Amino acid sequence: MTVPTTATTPTTPTTAHDFSAWTRDVQGDVEHALDAFLPPASAVPHKLHEAMRYTTLGGGKRVRPLLAYAAGALFGADAGALARVAAAVEMIHVYSLVHDDMPCMDNDALRRGKPTVHVAYDEATALLVGDTLQAQAFEVLAAADLAPARLVTMLRLLAQAAGSAGMCGGQAIDLDSVGLALNRAELERMHQLKTGAMLRVSVVLGALAGRDLSTDELQALERYSAAVGLAFQVVDDVLDATADSATLGKTAGKDAADNKPTYVSILGLEPSRALAEQLRREAHDALAPFGDKAQRLRELADLIVQRKA
Ligand code: IPE
Ligand code: IPE
Ligand code: MG
Ligand code: MG
Ligand code: MG
Repeated sequence: MTVPTTATTPTTPTTAHDFSAWTRDVQGDVEHALDAFLPPASAVPHKLHEAMRYTTLGGGKRVRPLLAYAAGALFGADAGALARVAAAVEMIHVYSLVHDDMPCMDNDALRRGKPTVHVAYDEATALLVGDTLQAQAFEVLAAADLAPARLVTMLRLLAQAAGSAGMCGGQAIDLDSVGLALNRAELERMHQLKTGAMLRVSVVLGALAGRDLSTDELQALERYSAAVGLAFQVVDDVLDATADSATLGKTAGKDAADNKPTYVSILGLEPSRALAEQLRREAHDALAPFGDKAQRLRELADLIVQRKA
């Protein structure tokens, strides 16, 4: 399947305007790729396919795909492979949101400005949408035109990031932690797993879509992505406590209402903001070995910390 692309590869520092044009291009490419890779709603079973498209298309910030494209640009990834990496990480992410919103988890009715899947459809459909998106993610990535050994590594890294050593493990800790005063280390671990793991793997898979990485390159990318991965969830916690539902497109104030341990509940609002800023600087520092060529990754760290939704 050919997926047209418009996103360009940056080689020099860029203006804020260039960055927003680039994010729009990548978001457009990703929307197109997801549309092409998802089964058509006209195919049986209609309800499942329609619900997959309902929740995946036309919404979300596409932060994980943006990270993959920015890292891919640094290592010369081609557009076709990047589209598959981006679609795969976004599909796993969307599956995690659909399940996160279900009554057995966070019981949320609003996501990306629309009723959640179990509300718009039903619980069994939400469960199956998540299951299917996860399977589809691996199918999409497995068909990338990349060196077989590297592709197998990428599939294994994606499985690890999605599984009990990553996102699902973090979600399990999150659910077990309701009402608990976690210490800093426990809180960081929960966030690094439930949210950080998929952000980290998005960076690494984007880079591996280009070429094999040296140990130093991998270490620098891992340092960067550990910082932005944690920062992303710290900011998510801050926004839950400070923004409104219309801006977020999801129910605000849910963490306090559900008695979840978050950076805001444990550190307080201002220290959480300060931590996010410190992580942004750490992310920038980690990119020093790549020089100007890593400008998009720097801009994404800024976006992740400074975003309002
Ligand atoms: C929300 O993720 C869930 C978390 C991991 C914090 P995003 O804030 O990336 O959600 P979308 O994709 O933009 O809807
Ligand atoms: C969810 O964290 C992380 C995943 C979906 C893996 P949250 O429960 O804080 O996400 P939101 O706030 O509902 O988007
Ligand atoms: Mg949750
Ligand atoms: Mg939630
Ligand atoms: Mg949240």
